[in-house]
Amino acid sequence: MFSSRTNWPLTPNRLSELLRERRGAGLPTVDLTESNPTRCGFALDVEEILAPLYNPGSLVYEPDPRGLRVAREAVAHYYSERGVHLDPDQIFLTSGTSEAYSFVFRLLANPGDKILAPQPSYPLFDFLGALNDVEVLPYSLIYDDGWQVDLEALASRWESGVRAVLVVHPNNPTGSYIKRRELGRMIEICHHNRAAIIADEVFADYGFGTDAERWVTHAQNSEVLTFTLSGLSKISALPQMKVGWIVVTGPSVLRNEAQARLEVIADTYLSVSAPVALATPQWLARRRSIQAQILERVQANLRRFDELLTPGLPVTRLKVEGGWYAVLRVPSTRSDEDWAADLLTQEGVSVHPGHFYDFPSEGFLVLSLLPAPEIFQDALGKVISRICTQS
Ligand SMILES: Cc1ncc(COP(=O)(O)O)c(C=O)c1O
Repeated sequence: MFSSRTNWPLTPNRLSELLRERRGAGLPTVDLTESNPTRCGFALDVEEILAPLYNPGSLVYEPDPRGLRVAREAVAHYYSERGVHLDPDQIFLTSGTSEAYSFVFRLLANPGDKILAPQPSYPLFDFLGALNDVEVLPYSLIYDDGWQVDLEALASRWESGVRAVLVVHPNNPTGSYIKRRELGRMIEICHHNRAAIIADEVFADYGFGTDAERWVTHAQNSEVLTFTLSGLSKISALPQMKVGWIVVTGPSVLRNEAQARLEVIADTYLSVSAPVALATPQWLARRRSIQAQILERVQANLRRFDELLTPGLPVTRLKVEGGWYAVLRVPSTRSDEDWAADLLTQEGVSVHPGHFYDFPSEGFLVLSLLPAPEIFQDALGKVISRICTQS
């Protein structure tokens, strides 16, 4: 009756089951996996967010496959502030980055073709791959006092049918950016194999400090066909508005061909509504105030780690360059899922086990840095002392 691509195990996993039981028993839980910015107590200007939706222009239906031009011009302006000058025709609006991935996978890959994606990384890639009949193969990120791409493994892992290399810049949850040197080699590999780069930059504006080695944006890649994906869910902390985009860059012949084909894909769905597209310039402009609040929050929560994680403890925090997450290294005396289950049942604190993000071994927990500092500090204290006493 149903397609094999939807043969997912539909039963809740162990941690969801434990959470459900706690709720049923009326026990409180502190959620250190919360990364929905609309639930983390940031100050919002309701008028500023909702007023742009009241636009008489929305009463006219004049669809544009790439999304209304006024929104694409605003996105082009966002990149021009990073020194990248784009024609709005290089930009395609989507109903979020996830849809953008599907469009690009559909554009590049035949059923059974492959996309290389970083490991560890964002768990949605396997679903997006499966839904688009694309196989997602991992390439490793290695931690050695900071994360780096295992470039030689990337080159040697190459097999026929690989259509693109996906980079998450900065990666979720490692918080690592692609460095200039890494990109140079990646471009060589893609060029040699006639593959594209797909760059997810949803967290790009949340970098800590500056690093001259950090690549500013993949929207400036010109040597290989590149699709840079981003959107308002993280940039303006408005996931509920469902606005994302694809920027197409690269050698002009390939770029023009890609744009013409993408236009047909986008025209088939016309997914971004007029009110939302017309409001996008104002939502994009408001990013500065919310980004300042979020950056202050995540950096304050990182400082809490460093106050609590005194040297010599069996738990440490991995270095992070940006984004909304922190990775804890914990003893692998038990599985990361057992640690997460123990913290939930004994301390009432929910964290993600590393295997949710395909960490290659046990011993990693992932925490969101978005929760309010008072909640975060108390729950983090419980996490650390439990791990110390149980190790
Ligand atoms: C790396 C990464 N890309 C994309 C998304 C989803 O973005 P959107 O809401 O635009 O689909 C997320 C959401 O957490 C993410 O972590």
